[in-house]
Parts: sequence; structure tokens; C-alpha cells
Amino acid sequence: MRHLEISDLITAVDLRDGSRLPVRRDEVVRQLRDGGDERAARIVAGLPTDRDGTLDPDAVDRLLISVHTELQRLSEELRIGNRLVHLLGPLFTAIRADGAHPGPYRLVDIGCGLGYLVRWLAATDALGPDVELIGVDLNAALVGEADRLARAEGLDCRFVHGNAFELPEAATVYVSTGVLHHFSAAALTGFFQAQAASPALAFCHFDIAATSLAPLGARVFHRARMRHPLGRHDGVVSAERAHDDATLLRTAAVPGLRALLYEPRGLSNPFCTTLRPILGVRPHLEAPLRQALGGRASRRLVGPEHLGEAARPGEEVAR
Ligand SMILES: C[S@@+](CC[C@H](N)C(=O)[O-])C[C@H]1O[C@@H](n2cnc3c(N)ncnc32)[C@H](O)[C@@H]1O
Repeated sequence: MRHLEISDLITAVDLRDGSRLPVRRDEVVRQLRDGGDERAARIVAGLPTDRDGTLDPDAVDRLLISVHTELQRLSEELRIGNRLVHLLGPLFTAIRADGAHPGPYRLVDIGCGLGYLVRWLAATDALGPDVELIGVDLNAALVGEADRLARAEGLDCRFVHGNAFELPEAATVYVSTGVLHHFSAAALTGFFQAQAASPALAFCHFDIAATSLAPLGARVFHRARMRHPLGRHDGVVSAERAHDDATLLRTAAVPGLRALLYEPRGLSNPFCTTLRPILGVRPHLEAPLRQALGGRASRRLVGPEHLGEAARPGEEVAR
């Protein structure tokens, strides 16, 4: 069975200008059936269309906002903000200590959805007042809702409609949560390369840990926490298509950045490590980052050499 997420299929964007493209329901249903996913095909077959069979864009937006609102509850429960600050706090300490990089700094969250992480960082001021906070997403409806929530909450952050592969905002540090599995391994290399080629000093991308327990854990967790069948379906597929440690370390090993994986398999408890990040840092920042992290956390941060042959750069296979 091919692992396709419904949310990736029911919206389409013209990547040249970001405008929305019509999506035919029967085409999405066919793709899902061809992939052997009858349950997902039935979910899409129940979505409203116009007379020509084009999915109703407003209904799709409302659905995605509602599913992402449920996703936000998962982020709260998994304490994703604290997890990020556990690593980014020491990273910004290392950056500030290095005289070559005076602030202010900018954090850009790629594929921010409703902007929970950026809004949490703005509300808690966890990274300090010298870090500007921006979220970017390909989905204009999610960006609009993220912006509305930030205004309602009186938060100092902003949201921009844009593509992860042609980033509209420069950053000191790029981050993401739950986005990497949307990209093939081949695309991941380009994603990391673009950030390495920018003036950014680091990236830190959290995604589902590809453990043997992940699909079962995702099934139980999404069943308990998400109401809409689309959210339940995509949550499980996300875990099934999560990239393994070797793929993350191999694709993130791009020129100019040192790839580091936090809590790889074997150094983490699969019952506790639900999401964990792949980092890329300018090589001169690795030692101060490790120092700021402290011995215990630093030992959980490994480079491609940790996995030997398996993490060597090589031909990536498209998904
Ligand atoms: C599973 S959601 C995660 C949202 C959010 N980061 C969170 O943790 O709640 C994946 C997000 O990535 C966005 N996305 C997918 N492909 C993208 C791309 N090429 N550029 C920017 N955003 C993208 C989707 O629109 C969606 O909001």
C-alpha cells in the first residue's frame, strides 16, 4: 500500500504564484484506491463538491482548520514547545556566545499549520526578546487562521504564505514540527540544501520517530484525541511514512552544515520518544552547542558516523 495523506491530496497550489488550484474529487478517490486505501477513498468520496465534481474549497478549508485545531491539542499534550526549547535554548546560547553573530535573530517555522509552536514561543517568550518569530505554510487558509489567532491572543509574531522549497523569509534558525514526512527522501535533500545555502546558522526539524511502535502509538493516540476520520487516518499514515534515522542523517548531511540527530533509535525510549529532531548546525557551533546542552543531552545528539554505512550520502529513492 502506498502511504498517502488525504490532506496532501485535497488541496493543490500553483507553486509559481501560490494560487489555489481546483481539485477533482474523483481524481483523489482514484489515487487513494490505486494505492489500496479504500478507507481513505470513502472519506474523500463524502466531501462536498460543486456540480462539476470539484471539491468545495471553503469546505476543505474548514475541514483542514478543524483537523489542525485537534492537532494543536496533540502538540500541547506532547509538550512540543518545551521539547523544542530544550534544544533551541542551548542553540541560541551558543549563537549569542559566538561574537560573529550579534542579534537580533529570527526563527522561521516551516509548515507551521495553525502556528501553535510560534504562538507558544511568542506567548512564553521562551527564546528571549531578541528572537523574531515567523511561521510559513503552503496552505493560505491555515496561515490566515494562524494570523487571526495570534492577533486575538495579542502575540508578537507573524505568518506568511509560502513554500518550504522556496522560502520567502530568511532565518537564523529554521524549524518545523510534523512536516518532514510529507517530503520524499529525494526532496528532503533539496529542502536541507536550500537552508544550508542560506545565511541561516542552523535548522532543527522535529518529526515522528520511526520506531516499530510509532504506527500503533499513532493509531491509539489519534483515535483517542481526534474526532474527524481524516485526522485519524492521516495521523496513522504520518507515522507509517516517517523517515528512519539513517535517511534523516544521510539527507541532512549537506555541505556547510553538520547533521546531528537527537535521540536516535538505541539511545531513546520508544515509549517516550514520539517526535525528535534532525539538526543541521554550522560546524563551528557544534562544540558550544554541546557545552550549552550539558553532558547527558549532548550524548543523545549523534552525527552520521553513529550509523556508519547506513547514513552515507547516496542515491535517494523517490517516494
Ligand atoms: C502535519 S501538518 C503540521 C502542522 C504544524 N507544524 C503542526 O505541528 O501542527 C503539515 C503542514 O505542512 C504544510 N506543508 C506541506 N507541504 C509544504 C510546503 N511545501 N511548504 C510549506 N508548508 C507545507 C501543510 O500545509 C501543513 O500545514
